[in-house]
Amino acid sequence: MKVLVVGANGQIGKHIVKQLQNNDQHTVRAMVRKEEQAEELKKSGVDAVIANLEGSKNSIIKAAKGCEAVVFTAGSGGGTGPDKTLLVDLDGAVKTIEAAEEAGAERFVIVSALQANNRQNWNEKIRHYYAAKHYADRMLETSNMNYTIVRPGGLLNGEGTGKVNVAENLNERGSVPREDVAKTVIASLAEENTFKRGFDLISGDTAVADALKNL
Ligand SMILES: NC(=O)c1ccc[n+]([C@@H]2O[C@H](COP(=O)([O-])OP(=O)(O)OC[C@H]3O[C@@H](n4cnc5c(N)ncnc54)[C@H](OP(=O)(O)O)[C@@H]3O)[C@@H](O)[C@H]2O)c1
Repeated sequence: MKVLVVGANGQIGKHIVKQLQNNDQHTVRAMVRKEEQAEELKKSGVDAVIANLEGSKNSIIKAAKGCEAVVFTAGSGGGTGPDKTLLVDLDGAVKTIEAAEEAGAERFVIVSALQANNRQNWNEKIRHYYAAKHYADRMLETSNMNYTIVRPGGLLNGEGTGKVNVAENLNERGSVPREDVAKTVIASLAEENTFKRGFDLISGDTAVADALKNL
């Protein structure tokens, strides 16, 4: 599949782009918001397009044209206020879902967050963030696309182990290296067992491909 990665300059996004470059099944197009980011990607042979999640839906439709799948791994981050959480994590995600559908993509994988689906467990200090993730995921569930919602625990920068623990409801907290989140997102693209469902993701003892097969 040709895969549009939204949030391609992010920490998970960079892993996804790199892993897709070395993947036989898929090809990658990176969506970033700055000219210099696109130039850098093009230098390493990556098809890169520029669009801002706070910009028009049409610019995202244009970016997604010709892609069978879209991966959303963007986020406003902890350094900005709740206004950006609303505009990027919620409206940016929903705009991307609408744009992907209108551009003809069939598959959509979103990077959500552990417990986004359980309102009673939202972290008191960042309830607005969980609300944004929750409703973006719910909008994806009502789309006509074949979706997967990946809900990772706390993100780590260390090297991936390639081994994870996944379940529709893990009932435990945990963390996972960003490299393994990227691996799980990519493995989900063609794994039928992840179609039209969401799952929690933390580090574990099972190889990603096997973990998804047994989900
Ligand atoms: N932190 C955690 O523990 C945690 C846990 C679970 C899930 N998550 C989720 O994991 C995902 C990615 O995490 P990460 O660590 O890779 O985040 P990250 O490094 O902050 O990357 C986020 C990316 O989103 C891009 N972005 C922000 N606003 C944008 C806009 N208006 N238009 C286009 N792109 C925009 C950023 O672009 P620039 O590079 O240009 O700034 C950045 O590349 C997020 O969805 C986050 O909610 C995080």
